[in-house]
Amino acid sequence: MIEGRESINPSALYEKLAPLDHERYTTELCERYAGQIARIMRLKRERRAIVLAHNYQRPEIFEVADFIGDSFELARKAREVGDADVIVFCGVHFMAETAKVFNPERSVLLPDMRAGCSLADSVTAEALAERADELRKIYPDLKVVSYVNCTADVKALSDSCCTSANAVKVVNAIDSGNILFVPDQNLANYVQAHTSKRIISWDGNCYVHHQITPDEVEKARAAVPGLIVIAHPECRKDVIAMADAVLSTSAMMRYAKESPADKFLIVTECGLSDRLLLEVPNKHFYKACKLCRYMKMITLDGVADSLEHLRYAIELEPEVRVGARRALERMLELGA
Ligand code: 13P
Ligand code: SF4
Repeated sequence: MIEGRESINPSALYEKLAPLDHERYTTELCERYAGQIARIMRLKRERRAIVLAHNYQRPEIFEVADFIGDSFELARKAREVGDADVIVFCGVHFMAETAKVFNPERSVLLPDMRAGCSLADSVTAEALAERADELRKIYPDLKVVSYVNCTADVKALSDSCCTSANAVKVVNAIDSGNILFVPDQNLANYVQAHTSKRIISWDGNCYVHHQITPDEVEKARAAVPGLIVIAHPECRKDVIAMADAVLSTSAMMRYAKESPADKFLIVTECGLSDRLLLEVPNKHFYKACKLCRYMKMITLDGVADSLEHLRYAIELEPEVRVGARRALERMLELGA
């Protein structure tokens, strides 16, 4: 049976959440959250449900999550959810699809179907098939590697998937010197800098990371001496060039915990800084202050309603599911 906390003490919740933002996390709000969290815990037990949450979720969502992680960890976790009947995915649509790929017999629920992704929207299966066909005339050995931030039907057309945690490893391990890398042009640039293979990139980006400029990083560095800059590889090339470390979201967590430094600029979506503030209270984290509007569409109310009404269910065509699974399994093999 899946574990759930029996009750929540509102003042303990306030203590935990308040340092994030005293204005926003008032005692009244935390009391309201405590009630919603208790309702969710009850529904989780009744539904035999497990909640998986991405690192960019709201702090109060972390309170109801059975597992929190980056895209790679969540994909791995989705393969081993024990005896749960229902998976509630607190993240965005392509991540919930991945959970469904690995759990065709279980209900996989996304609390808000508007939780999409600008990066996933930038490539369709039709456009990818056309481009890959064109390129195969020039590079007959071409392989398609898709960043997991894409739809399941794009994954199904790929030779392998990758995440920000293993993109370089997957590209270097795959048996071709010519790679069509979709859909993130910034991650493609980053991979190109770490491989001798030819990377042909797609014209997509994450609107959250792409808006961060070197000027913003420079200003933070000038204001805080000794600041360590940790950037996500979805950032622009000129921002990456300024970083002390370029890491996936969970690798950022590990780095910040293990580093002897105590001041970090976290150059990614703000939710990760919230998780760091909660879990590493003895260090200082400066936020890039960029929010992903899609990730933030998931709320406690939405999760409770999702469990109550078993909505909104992710469905996939069998051939898409099988194709996407093959590409995801290849990633787990090459990028482990
Ligand atoms: P990771 O969690 O894999 O680092 O990815 C970040 C992201 O943008 C997910 O949408
Ligand atoms: Fe997509 Fe960017 Fe939001 Fe991640 S942060 S879900 S890549 S829009």
